[in-house]
Amino acid sequence: MDIEERKWEIMYDQEALQTRIKELGQEIKKDYQDKNLLVISLLKGSFIFCADLVRAIDIPRLRVNFMTTSSYGNSTNSSGRVRVQADITIDDISQYDVLLLDDIADTANTMDFVYKHIAGKNPKSLKTCVLLDKPSRRQVEFEADYVGFSIEDKFVVGYGFDFEDMYRNVPYIFNVTDELR
Ligand code: IMP
Ligand code: MG
Repeated sequence: MDIEERKWEIMYDQEALQTRIKELGQEIKKDYQDKNLLVISLLKGSFIFCADLVRAIDIPRLRVNFMTTSSYGNSTNSSGRVRVQADITIDDISQYDVLLLDDIADTANTMDFVYKHIAGKNPKSLKTCVLLDKPSRRQVEFEADYVGFSIEDKFVVGYGFDFEDMYRNVPYIFNVTDELR
């Protein structure tokens, strides 16, 4: 797929993203008001979403940490074999209510793997949040506790989502169509 030659279609512009992220932030605030929240953001896909979401969660006790995973597969598809490239940097998370953040649940191989990995560190509680959800693509059963938008099986780019590690900086989410421009 050479995306330079395809028509792009904006799916969620900056305003739509900020409106929904503010709603998610308020929902999360309600649930974690009096807790020690540890947000774990999966790199690189969720770094922009994380930056906006944590600023929408208005609670006093919130920490942010990051984790990098990789999966064997091609650029638009993850495979079932996920591994940790860089783990979180907090050894003891038993005092924290953890919220695991990713850009998208697609096949859900990544979230399934990371959920089990973090659960193995015995957090006080563990929930998940994704900006986008593609339920029709699942290879493993997974349902996130907080979902920004549920979408059809479309390839999306921008706002952290990459195509061959580029376009993450585009401030809105667009969809690459099959049409040539
Ligand atoms: P998984 O298939 O649920 O394990 O998703 C793994 C990763 O695939 C996500 O974290 C994204 O980085 C990437 N991914 C899935 N769908 C898309 C897409 O539509 N655009 C860009 N990246 C995607
Ligand atoms: Mg990716």
